Amino acid sequence: MEAVELKPGIYWVGAIDWNIRDFHGYSTPVGTTYNAFLILDEKNVLVDTVKSPFYLEMLGRISEMIDPSRIDIIISNHVEADHSGSLPQILERIGNPTVITSARGQKGLEKYYQRPMNFKTVKTGDTLSIGRRTLTFIEAPMLHWPDSMFTYAKEDRILFSNDAFGQHVASCLRFEDELEGEAMGHAAKYYANILWPLAPIILKKVDEVVKMGIPIDMIAPSHGLIWRRDPSRIIQAYAEWSQGRAGKKILVIYDTMWGSTESIAKGILKGLTQEGFEAKLLHLRSNHRSDIIEEMLEAKGALLGSPTLNNGMFPTMGDFLTYMRGLRPKGKIFGLFGSHGWGAGAVKEMRENLEKAKLEVWEKELEIQYAPDQTELKKATEFGREFAKKVLG
Ligand code: FEO
Repeated sequence: MEAVELKPGIYWVGAIDWNIRDFHGYSTPVGTTYNAFLILDEKNVLVDTVKSPFYLEMLGRISEMIDPSRIDIIISNHVEADHSGSLPQILERIGNPTVITSARGQKGLEKYYQRPMNFKTVKTGDTLSIGRRTLTFIEAPMLHWPDSMFTYAKEDRILFSNDAFGQHVASCLRFEDELEGEAMGHAAKYYANILWPLAPIILKKVDEVVKMGIPIDMIAPSHGLIWRRDPSRIIQAYAEWSQGRAGKKILVIYDTMWGSTESIAKGILKGLTQEGFEAKLLHLRSNHRSDIIEEMLEAKGALLGSPTLNNGMFPTMGDFLTYMRGLRPKGKIFGLFGSHGWGAGAVKEMRENLEKAKLEVWEKELEIQYAPDQTELKKATEFGREFAKKVLG
């Protein structure tokens, strides 16, 4: 696949990772891309690089356009290895171009690669003329790491946003409008699993970018597809996710040993739907944790169910709660249920876990011994109905 032109003189020269299926704990069933961009002007600029195993793929695409040794400047918007991983190799190949990054970016690159680089650090509002074009830098700390920044190409109205507004999707297509309807779902999963804990910071940054009033024709993130058709849609989606946009939806997330917790879960599900909610049953060994988190992004709450194993919660629930706590899904209400044989413990442990993370947990809970009988199944349905009412306030 060849380099792809975004605007005259600006090209995608990144790499496509078709085979990655796990991105540090996040399932990527359709792979991802590492986007790098080449700007040809009086000074030739490479915006970001790619994960190191893909260095030659990037170099090949750059070479279609220019001799790589003619690159004058490399902008490192973010030090994480999926974007800076090829930096040592390309520096080895082309000599000593200026490496533009934030102050924290410089610290990170020095520590990661332990080799001299011709650094120039920038901060928000700094500009750089590269000939016919002017580049402006906007620091974006915690989107996704403290060093992160955006680069804005003024004359072409392109925002190179690095991790922000990205999606994990591998495709021969480069623009969101070419993969009609798919990118927003991938962007939601990406936001929920990577950026959710940073929602207040994102909201502030989105507001700052909007107030800057910079015209944006394209948002070119470092993963996935480029937003070309009305890029304000993804900015708006980020603002809404960060404010906790939720539909009339509740999740029932559970595991089961001998089917008892599953029977209770189905009883609860019935109650939720009777109250008019979109309800989803998500078994922890049939759904990847990162897919459940994506579902949670626009849910009002979740009921978590676990059988008791050795006086505590089932191990898959422990895995899920550890992952979810780190993402701090604020604004959701959680309910708890479970089953046990001779001694309970799972519900208590789940409650302690959620309360420690300062998440809102409904005071009522449902715990059933052995298997639920008909009366207890009715109770489970009623429990679901009550939770639905609680969530509606
Ligand atoms: Fe895509 Fe924070 O790296």
